[in-house]
Amino acid sequence: MTESLIYINGNLVPESEAKISVLDHGFLYGDGVFEGIRAYKGVVFKLREHIERLYDSAKFLKIEIPMSKEELIEAILETIRKNGLMDCYIRVVVTRGVGDLGLDPRKCGKPSIIIIVKPMGPLLGKKAVSLIISSVRRDGVDATNHQAKSLNYLNSILAKLEAISAGADDAIMLDNRGFVSEATGENVFIVKNGKIMTPPPTSGVLLGITRNCIIELARKLGYEVMERELTPFELITADEVFLTGTAAEIVPVESVNGRKIGTRVPGPITERLIKEFEKLKGDPSQGIKI
Ligand SMILES: Cc1ncc(COP(=O)(O)O)c(C=O)c1O
Repeated sequence: MTESLIYINGNLVPESEAKISVLDHGFLYGDGVFEGIRAYKGVVFKLREHIERLYDSAKFLKIEIPMSKEELIEAILETIRKNGLMDCYIRVVVTRGVGDLGLDPRKCGKPSIIIIVKPMGPLLGKKAVSLIISSVRRDGVDATNHQAKSLNYLNSILAKLEAISAGADDAIMLDNRGFVSEATGENVFIVKNGKIMTPPPTSGVLLGITRNCIIELARKLGYEVMERELTPFELITADEVFLTGTAAEIVPVESVNGRKIGTRVPGPITERLIKEFEKLKGDPSQGIKI
């Protein structure tokens, strides 16, 4: 198998030669931001939206990305082209750059920019998933806010470890007030009496690109969609629960804390949204052509 080509700071190098300094603050402190993006049938899905979020995340961390949005889009497209892929997962990472062992970000030189592309199927690889409600709370909106997609995922990893020890596929994290926030790497939606609901930004969620796309799609289909705080009770007693994310797409949830969700999985609204979402893949109006 030929090695994939990885973009590092303007150069495309084979994977085995793609190296970053151990003094990069992305490695030492999780001091950086990233995006996970998907290309379907030669179209990079919602690429502009991902780029906007990346620059917003970087702004929150006071990292100045040393290239324009248009230049970064072109670098992403060129990396995909050079790897000869039409359907792939794309990871864009921007770190604070190489500094010394101290925390002081002013010691870091230029931010490092890395683009990795890989062929990929759905992340969870399952038709439906089981969840637990984790004892690990989502970071507060006044802390390492998940609206910024930073390299610091310890919060999610601790929750995922808890899910694994409980024999579940993934975990739902609550915000620091006890409302439902999101899964470890996906947003969560519930359906109750035909209405679709998902937690708002105040519950510490990443404003997922797939989340926004599903809200828009569902409203277009005539469903009422509400962004509002949800209690664990509402999650457990929902008619349908599903997760959304770039890698996972739309994944039905079969149980939460051992309680079965609804009467069939996927529920009818989840099923319809999965079907409609499929139609967006490869549609040039939904992204940028490779
Ligand atoms: C914590 C978290 N929430 C939600 C999402 C879903 O976001 P998106 O749909 O933009 O991939 C992700 C995906 O990376 C995530 O890491």
